[in-house]
Amino acid sequence: MKNIAILTGATGGLGREFLKQLLNEDIDEIWAVARNKQKLSELREKYGEKVIPISMDLSEMHSMEQLYSMLKENHPRVVWLINNAGLAKMGKYTDFSIEEIDRTINVNCKAPVILSQICIPYMGKGSKILNISSASAFQPNPYINLYAASKAFERSYSRALHAELAECKITSTAVCPGWIDTELLQKEINGKKVRFPGLVTAEKVAKQAVKDAKKGRDMSVCSLYVKCQHVNVKLLPQRLVMKIWMAGIRKYLKE
Ligand SMILES: NC(=O)c1ccc[n+]([C@@H]2O[C@H](COP(=O)([O-])OP(=O)(O)OC[C@H]3O[C@@H](n4cnc5c(N)ncnc54)[C@H](OP(=O)(O)O)[C@@H]3O)[C@@H](O)[C@H]2O)c1
Repeated sequence: MKNIAILTGATGGLGREFLKQLLNEDIDEIWAVARNKQKLSELREKYGEKVIPISMDLSEMHSMEQLYSMLKENHPRVVWLINNAGLAKMGKYTDFSIEEIDRTINVNCKAPVILSQICIPYMGKGSKILNISSASAFQPNPYINLYAASKAFERSYSRALHAELAECKITSTAVCPGWIDTELLQKEINGKKVRFPGLVTAEKVAKQAVKDAKKGRDMSVCSLYVKCQHVNVKLLPQRLVMKIWMAGIRKYLKE
């Protein structure tokens, strides 16, 4: 039986770092999931035949069905599932189309839950699920309200799943980073350069997340900046936290 890892969003900034971490593990195959075929083949060329490129759109239900069939056909042991693919857009609620809302909820919420559900039967003692949430999950965030809500969903789901899976010795870790220097960040909005306080590298986040998952933690927070943020938002009234956040972000938005 093959030991495999499934990594979604493998071609993105954080995904590539998770891939490097997984290459150090005792795994036969890494099923690398994303839409862009070219970037997926580049990963295989660079990191070798352990990388199995799977091009699919996780906002569509038939992609999950395809993965389900692949699991049934190959019957591997899933040692790692890293639900990392994610979408983010900053803007007023009026800037979002219905299609964008649907896609964001499908990729950020529905896909991690369905993938966990179909992978758990192929997991055993020591298997690990990582759900890449965000520090945005700690409080409501106006102007990235959909993203923050989707990440709160992912964090809550992941931590509760961790408790449910304890008896099977499978862990589920909600990874909650602050700003990470990847392609996801809109570096400029409406002609204004965006500042990202507490920005960290993807390498730092991935290393810490893998370490925390191995320790059996249900949450991974990698920098002191985010640890302080986590405590502060618990102590302060949420209305005040939102006001502070809005004061920082309004300058980037159209009038
Ligand atoms: N960057 C940050 O500041 C930050 C902070 C906190 C949390 N996070 C979280 O970290 C995770 C990784 O983000 P990142 O910063 O590495 O972003 P990124 O560089 O934009 O990568 C996103 C990845 O998701 C994949 N993806 C997007 N839509 C998809 C779809 N419909 N189906 C399949 N794959 C899809 C992309 O590949 P394709 O485009 O080829 O499909 C890409 O591999 C996300 O969940 C994000 O919310 C990021």
